[in-house]
Amino acid sequence: MQQTILVTGGAGYIGSHTCVCLLEAGYQVIVVDNFSNSNIIAPERVQQITGKTFTVHPVDICDRKTLAAVFAEHDIDAVIHFAGFKAVGESIEQPLNYYHNNIYGTITLCEVMAEAGVKTMIFSSSATVYGMNDNVPFKESAPTSATNPYGHTKLFIEQILQDVCIADPEWTVTLLRYFNPVGAHHSGLIGEDPNGVPNNLMPFISQVAVGRLKKLKIFGNDYPTPDGTGVRDYIHVIDLADGHVKALESTGKQKGVAIYNLGTGHGISVLDVVTTFEKINGIPIPYKIVPRRPGDIASSFADPKKAKNILQWIAKKTLEDMVRDAWNWQQKNPNGYA
Ligand code: NAD
Ligand code: UFG
Repeated sequence: MQQTILVTGGAGYIGSHTCVCLLEAGYQVIVVDNFSNSNIIAPERVQQITGKTFTVHPVDICDRKTLAAVFAEHDIDAVIHFAGFKAVGESIEQPLNYYHNNIYGTITLCEVMAEAGVKTMIFSSSATVYGMNDNVPFKESAPTSATNPYGHTKLFIEQILQDVCIADPEWTVTLLRYFNPVGAHHSGLIGEDPNGVPNNLMPFISQVAVGRLKKLKIFGNDYPTPDGTGVRDYIHVIDLADGHVKALESTGKQKGVAIYNLGTGHGISVLDVVTTFEKINGIPIPYKIVPRRPGDIASSFADPKKAKNILQWIAKKTLEDMVRDAWNWQQKNPNGYA
């Protein structure tokens, strides 16, 4: 029997790529998104890529009545929950917005799911829950903490979902802790389209390459890393999306909560990303070294063995694939979906 998956935030960056992988794996998809950080064109492009159609509900997950109507209309088997705000700096300026949208939104979603008898959820958590800890690689059992409201929302939601599973053993929740998602679908039809000046490294580099920004600022070259710049675990968004399909396949065998890192297990420095982008795409990326960005840690990368052993999932794409696909998307869509 074909399963129907409700994808909250399915028009966003990771959500749109996950919809592609779900449709290609034979799932039926229903998207709920309020387009607060995305464009209706993204799901249209997903339909173009896959040749499959699906329903998109322009609904805010905080709006209980409208959300309940979506569950009443469709026979939903499981939810993949991406909807939320994600900018660290903005979360410091607007903590209440972040707590409301991310936490109240998730609680409302869980209540509506429980009423509809849908008790399987895959949640987008983040490596940010490993906090300022620099003890890499991070295992899922590492201590967790947060240093900003965005990180707190991820930690609180992880706790709420664990408590829900303790109270009602019919629930199955998978917490996926993403490392640094980058790149785009190889078609160049969907990709990352940040509002305003990008906070994250790869979209910043792509916008320098396309001429929208003049110069990359590298935040510090005095970290205790091989070349002094920050080290992260960049993961191709298609590998990440595939991790959701694998997590979904595994929920039948799972009881209660399971937590998995989704990362490659490899630490890559900022300078590695810049030089690989330049080499693969043949475009110089001018940069200057500026002071460290407050709140950044030297190194963050995953121990991805648990996902390999239990989900049979590994990240397959290389850094070369990531920079090529990021540039392909940016080149074909210099102004994003606009
Ligand atoms: P995104 O902003 O592109 O996607 C989020 C989507 O949710 C957007 O389409 C937005 O319009 C929608 N949305 C937000 N609030 C909503 C609401 N109340 N009701 C309905 N829709 C709503 O972000 P993304 O990069 O695709 O991230 C998806 C999830 O993964 C987020 O929860 C994010 O915190 C998490 N995550 C992202 C990263 C990353 O670096 N991109 C890393 C770790 C975790
Ligand atoms: N960096 C620069 N210049 C920039 C942007 C970033 O030098 O203009 C550096 C950062 O200092 C860091 C690395 O590039 O060393 C990666 O920075 P990103 O902002 O791309 O990613 P972060 O690791 O800081 O954070 C991202 C998401 C968080 C999430 C975290 C873990 O933004 O929301 O990954 O998943 F929590």
